[in-house]
Amino acid sequence: MDREEKAAALEKLKAELSGNDSLPLREANLVVGEGDPDAPVVFIGEAPGFYEDKFQRPFVGRAGKLLDRMIEGSGWKREDVYITNIVKRRPPQNRDPEPEELDAYRPYLSREIEILAPKIVATLGRFSMAYFMPEGKISRDHGKVFWWHDTLLVPLYHPAAALRSTGVLQELEKDFKKLPVIVKKFEELKAQRRKDEPAAPKEQENLF
Ligand code: URA
Repeated sequence: MDREEKAAALEKLKAELSGNDSLPLREANLVVGEGDPDAPVVFIGEAPGFYEDKFQRPFVGRAGKLLDRMIEGSGWKREDVYITNIVKRRPPQNRDPEPEELDAYRPYLSREIEILAPKIVATLGRFSMAYFMPEGKISRDHGKVFWWHDTLLVPLYHPAAALRSTGVLQELEKDFKKLPVIVKKFEELKAQRRKDEPAAPKEQENLF
C-alpha cells in the first residue's frame, strides 16, 4: 500500500472503532493513532490518559512531551513517526487496562500494524511489549531487537516510568539512540534474515 492507501485504510479502521458499540470504555473519547502512515517507526503505548482523552490525540501529556523530546533527539520530528496505543480509550483514573479491555482492542491494533507495515515497532512499557512477547520482561529485554514477522521489534521503557526514575530515563535515552541505526540497517538485516529460519519473535543478535 502507498501512503494514501494506508491513510484511507486507517480512516476506515477509525470509523469501525467508532461504530463498534460493544467495545469497553465507551464512556471515554476515542483516541486513535497519528503520524505518518508510511513512517519507518511506530511507537505503541498502553492507553490514553487525561490529556489524551481531552484532546483526542495520543501522547500529548507529560509522558508525550518526553516522547517528543526523545523522537527529536533521534533526528526525527513527531510527524515523521507514527504513535498509537493498544487500548484506544482512557481507563478510569488511568488505571492499568484490564485483560478484557486489552483483548477487545487487540484486533484493531493488529490491523493497524498490518496497514502501517513499519520497519520498526517500538513498544512503550510492559503492556505493549506483552502484546508481542507475552514472556518478555521489560527490565531484561528493553533495547534488544527482535524479529516479529517482517518487522523489527524494540521494547522500550514507558516514558511515564522514565519521568519517575533517572535510571530508567538514562536507559530509555540509550535505547532510543539505537532506533535510527536499526532503520538504516533494516534492509540489510532483512536480506540476511531471509536465509535464516523465520521464527518470531527471534532476537537479532550482534547489532550493538
Ligand atoms: N500513556 C500511554 O500509554 N499512552 C498515551 O497516549 C499517553 C500516556
